[in-house]
Parts: sequence; structure tokens; C-alpha cells
Amino acid sequence: MSTVLVTGGAGFIGSHTTLLLLEAGFEVVVVDNLSNSSIESLHRVEALTGKSITFYQTDIRDKAGLTEIFAKHKVDSVIHFAGLKAVGESNEIPLEYYDQNIYGTVNLLKVMESAGCYRMVFSSSATVYGDPASVPITEDFPTSATNPYGRTKLFIEEIMKDLSASNDRWNMVLLRYFNPIGAHKSGQIGEDPQGIPNNLMPFISQVAVGKREKLSIFGNDYPTPDGTGVRDYIHVVDLSDAHVKAVQKIGALGGISTFNLGTGNGYSVLQMVETFIKETGKSVPYEIVERRPGDIAECWADASLAKDKLGWTAVHGLSEMIEDTWRWQSQNPDGFK
Ligand code: NAD
Ligand code: UFG
Repeated sequence: MSTVLVTGGAGFIGSHTTLLLLEAGFEVVVVDNLSNSSIESLHRVEALTGKSITFYQTDIRDKAGLTEIFAKHKVDSVIHFAGLKAVGESNEIPLEYYDQNIYGTVNLLKVMESAGCYRMVFSSSATVYGDPASVPITEDFPTSATNPYGRTKLFIEEIMKDLSASNDRWNMVLLRYFNPIGAHKSGQIGEDPQGIPNNLMPFISQVAVGKREKLSIFGNDYPTPDGTGVRDYIHVVDLSDAHVKAVQKIGALGGISTFNLGTGNGYSVLQMVETFIKETGKSVPYEIVERRPGDIAECWADASLAKDKLGWTAVHGLSEMIEDTWRWQSQNPDGFK
């Protein structure tokens, strides 16, 4: 049986991917320092699947720790989710972002190389497209970054490309996520942001559950149909499924490949609020405030390359994404606590 090492596997996307990997028959080793997650997510994945996970509370910057883990397990592929992800915070503590994201990844790649493991799937982001000249976005669009977080994703992509060019034993897949939302159908695992959520969907659901008074909508004067920002929201289970397919196909793909992971549909902030109210029957008070610095008007994917090369396509629509988010949020108002 093939073994996948998942860094950041206790987090939002990592826990859903771990669940799908177990269901697909992989052995899973999770490495996570639990800086932004709870071990409870993995206990729930074990309960849902009836399978066990090997877990190490280890930082990806800990070379000795990682080396020991790779010595204990014959790891076939790595899915690398671990890292810091808050855009605003990255402007305040850039060194921490460069250290954890970039140094952490270089450290991981070095340990993999020493252990003879040459397959990695990496969590990149649509943020690498900066402010795109048009939509939908294809993988060959120019890349840029407007904040330290985005720069870490861009630099890591470049590092992985250099490594792939240096030795054709490396097989790499860069997955550029659009806006992941939703939760597993069971309502047992989902997104559990610490403190005030940065992202739209967790904010809306915390307002609906009564934890926050109202949503601030960041601007209604964008050049979009209703003036609010448009994004490509994708169900976390669809996103996770793409990782399973990437691991299954990584050898056949060879070299390094890059894929957009989105649905190809754009929804505005107001459409998200209206659909949430319609699906849940909850009220979501909101006010329009200033634009958030660094936000772009619209961003959605052309995901046809992932369909052609990975045989992957998103199957969950917006209503399901919201229904599943709400099941998780209403059954777990305090997340995993
Ligand atoms: P998350 O914070 O829920 O998961 C990240 C996990 O990594 C957490 O469990 C955290 O404890 C762990 N971690 C962080 N730093 C670590 C370190 N130094 N060593 C070991 N473990 C560490 O975030 P997520 O939403 O599941 O995102 C996963 C990945 O996807 C991240 O790389 C993120 O940048 C990327 N991504 C996320 C989104 C999004 O909107 N959620 C969009 C694009 C890309
Ligand atoms: N928004 C609000 N109010 C909020 C939060 C968000 O109006 O309280 C709006 C934003 O202005 C934007 C939309 O909702 O128009 C989506 O915002 P998110 O913060 O949920 O998502 P972003 O598209 O800004 O960013 C997300 C991730 C990034 C990632 C990017 C890639 O947070 O890490 O998607 O597309 F890089």
C-alpha cells in the first residue's frame, strides 16, 4: 500500500484530503505542529473512515524530526499544506511567513531528497495571478504578488521549478486553489479559524450562528455586476479529491505541472449572502464598508487543464457548499473546542 505524508494534515484542507486518501486506500502519515489546528480533526477523520492515521506533532522546519519520520516510513509522495496563510498578518510579520513557508518548504524538500522521495504536491493559490488582466484565468497567465504571503507561494513555485529542472527524478504538482469553502457532509470536520475570520464564508456563518453581530462587505463600487467582489468558491471536498488524483497521476505526469482548482463560476459577495440566507433560513445582517486594501474585483478559474490531465472536475454547486458549511458551523459553533 502506498504511503502519503501530509504536512498540515490537521488543518482545514489537509483533514479533508486525509479523509479522502484513507478512503482511496492510502496509508497516511500526518506532520503538523498544530499551530492553527486541533488534533481532534484527525480523531474525527479516523472515526469517519474506521482507519488510523500516523500523526507527528512536528514543525516542517525541524530537520532532525522530519529525517526521523522519513526513516521510519517509506513515503511515496508528499502533499504539502503546512504553512501560514493570512494575507493581512503576512504584511505585519513577513519574516515569520518567509521562515515557515519558504524555509520550511526548502527544509522539507532537502529531507525528501536525502530520503529518496521525489514526489510532491504543493498547495499554491490563485493569489499568484495578482490582479489578473481578464477572467477566466488560465495557468499561463502572468504571475505576481502583492503581499508577503503571496510572495511565499510564488517563490516556492519557482524553487520547485528549479529543483525539477535540476533532476528529472522529481515529480511535482502545483495546485493553485481558488476560494475553498464547505465542509465534509458528515458535519464532523470543517474550517475552524482562530480569532476573527479573514475569509468571507466563515465570517458569514459566524454571523448566522450568532457569534458576530454583522458582516462588513468590503466595497460595492467594483466594476462587477452588483459592485461587490466576485470569486470562484470551490467545495473543499472537490479540492481534496483533486489532491488524491494528483497523487495517483504524479508519476505519469512527470516533471512539474501546474493546475488551477476552481469551478469556473464567479459569485459576488452579495450573491453569497443571499444564497446563504436562502439555503439556511438564517438572517445575515451586513453593512457596506470601505474596500479592503489589496482586494481585486474579480477572480475565477478556467480549470479545463485539470479536467484534461487529472480527470478532475468540481461536482458540488454553491447550494451544497453553503449547506455543508452550515451543517458544520451549526453543529460545532465553537469549532473543534
Ligand atoms: P490551515 O491553517 O487550516 O492548515 C494549515 C496547517 O498547517 C495547520 O494545521 C497548521 O497547524 C499547520 N502548520 C502551519 N505551519 C506549520 C509548520 N511550520 N510546521 C508544521 N505544520 C504547520 O489552512 P488551510 O486552509 O487548510 O490551507 C492549507 C494550505 O492551502 C496552506 O498552504 C494555504 O496557504 C493554502 N491555501 C489555502 C487557501 C484557503 O483559502 N484556505 C487558498 C489558497 C491556498
Ligand atoms: N469579503 C468581505 N467581507 C469579509 C471578508 C471578505 O466583503 O469579511 C469579500 C472580499 O472583499 C472578497 C470576497 O469577500 O471580495 C472573498 O474574500 P476572502 O477573504 O474570502 O477571499 P480572497 O479572495 O480575498 O482570498 C482567498 C484566500 C487567499 C488566497 C485567495 C486566492 O484568503 O489566501 O483566496 O484566490 F490567496
